[in-house]
Amino acid sequence: MTSAALDREAFDRIAPRYDLVSDLMTLGMGDRWRRAAAEAADVCAGERVLDAYTGTGDLALMLADRVTPLGEVVGVDHSPEMIARARMKATARHQRCVFEVADCTALPFGDDHFDAATASGGLRSLDDPAVGVAELVRVVRPGGRVVVLEITPPERLRGVHARVLRHATPLLGGALGGDREAFGHLADTVGRVPSPADMAAIMSRAGLVDVRWRRYAGGVATLHHGRVA
Ligand SMILES: C[S@@+](CC[C@H](N)C(=O)[O-])C[C@H]1O[C@@H](n2cnc3c(N)ncnc32)[C@H](O)[C@@H]1O
Repeated sequence: MTSAALDREAFDRIAPRYDLVSDLMTLGMGDRWRRAAAEAADVCAGERVLDAYTGTGDLALMLADRVTPLGEVVGVDHSPEMIARARMKATARHQRCVFEVADCTALPFGDDHFDAATASGGLRSLDDPAVGVAELVRVVRPGGRVVVLEITPPERLRGVHARVLRHATPLLGGALGGDREAFGHLADTVGRVPSPADMAAIMSRAGLVDVRWRRYAGGVATLHHGRVA
């Protein structure tokens, strides 16, 4: 099985417990970081926005608050179970947001289709994050924004952080009635994320300008943003 297929299968299994475990893993700060990502996307009413690797759709729904009813947000993820949960959330909150199952490294949209694109927690799943960034840049118009949010190893106590994540996440997932192996996959991907400087270099090489990053909570989350040249 390819690593993309393994990832899709793991997220299908994680989906029912994803929001709860993600909240515990980020000590409840995940939504604050997603709001910062929505802010950095700098979207306005009427714009068309992509939330790639949307998962259960929280960032997409925050963006929808800012651009609808005149604009549109499309959330894309390769896990049908994660997308099913995102659609349920949008329906329960009476929010307009389109959710599609697709591979974010081969997006079903033409060049320059969006005014902005966000990717929260997805690029680290890829064998080559540069492929994912290039695809985001392809679908955003010149001058549009690309925002990347990732859980990252902190500036201090990196080893302790890695060990806590590696051991606590599967235990937590298992204790909450989930699947230890699939939650172990979620923790493993955090160790693969490029350093902030490497991610900025990937974004610049993909054609983004004004690339900046900000670290949160001692570096356990990092937000990058840039503009398509
Ligand atoms: C850690 S979750 C992040 C979900 C959400 N963006 C958030 O902030 O909570 C990563 C998501 O990326 C999706 N994903 C990973 N690789 C993908 C790919 N190649 N194409 C589409 N989705 C992918 C997974 O299915 C999963 O839902």
